[in-house]
Amino acid sequence: MGLDLSFQHPGFKARVNDRLCYQLAGEGHFVLRFWLIACSTWIQVMADCPDALFKPTEIRTRKGRTFQVRAYSSEDFGALVEMYASFEPKRVAQGLPPPDVPRITHWLDQLKIKSDSLLAIYGKKIVAHTILCPISQTEVEFTIFVLQDYREEGLGTRISQLTLAWASEMGFSKVLLTTEFTNYRAIGLFRKLGFSTTSSYGDECEMKVELRAEAKAEAA
Ligand SMILES: CC(C)(COP(=O)(O)OP(=O)(O)OC[C@H]1O[C@@H](n2cnc3c(N)ncnc32)[C@H](O)[C@@H]1OP(=O)(O)O)[C@@H](O)C(=O)NCCC(=O)NCCS
Repeated sequence: MGLDLSFQHPGFKARVNDRLCYQLAGEGHFVLRFWLIACSTWIQVMADCPDALFKPTEIRTRKGRTFQVRAYSSEDFGALVEMYASFEPKRVAQGLPPPDVPRITHWLDQLKIKSDSLLAIYGKKIVAHTILCPISQTEVEFTIFVLQDYREEGLGTRISQLTLAWASEMGFSKVLLTTEFTNYRAIGLFRKLGFSTTSSYGDECEMKVELRAEAKAEAA
């Protein structure tokens, strides 16, 4: 008989066969049985857990510039605040990024608790940031910010493809976002990535894309 263990992170699913544990422990040895099941569960979780770690990747844009793409870590916090402090225009996407350093700091503090992020780095400078914010076990919200001097060379497309592939690897099957109709650059990018509009409200629309398992291979 199998025991399904679903962990909070959608990629973290484990199946444990406990029959052997019961046989080994024998009837009545509850403590030993529990201990064996716990050990077996942990080993199986480690073995079955898909590698949701993002492998750092180098990308080259059509301007011939090379960028490092890697997952955000806590040491990046200050440099990311700097990126958004110099980001223009402020409040371009539903009030984001916030207009000043205290509000940028607060926003990024909140984000690091509830999201996963990728960064594009040029030299030592963070120049693009993508955010994945889980909504449910299968759905995740996506957004992207590319610093003004690095736009229109394909960076947004490439880092988004890598981010969607990473979301797929983590076990998500749908990616959603909301954007303003007036943000034609963003809408152009999202359409290119396969998003389509699912609903609209006022001057905003919701867009969605279903992830396919092949997305990872295609983005590589
Ligand atoms: C939207 C954004 C992420 C695009 O990043 P980017 O690195 O310039 O994107 P790319 O160069 O890969 O371009 C991707 C597509 O976006 C669209 N696009 C980008 N710049 C555009 C422009 N100036 N005019 C029209 N379409 C544009 C095009 O469809 C383009 O595809 P193409 O290169 O095949 O024509 C960037 O402009 C940005 O950070 N904007 C501010 C933040 C924002 O609005 N984020 C979205 C939040 S919902």
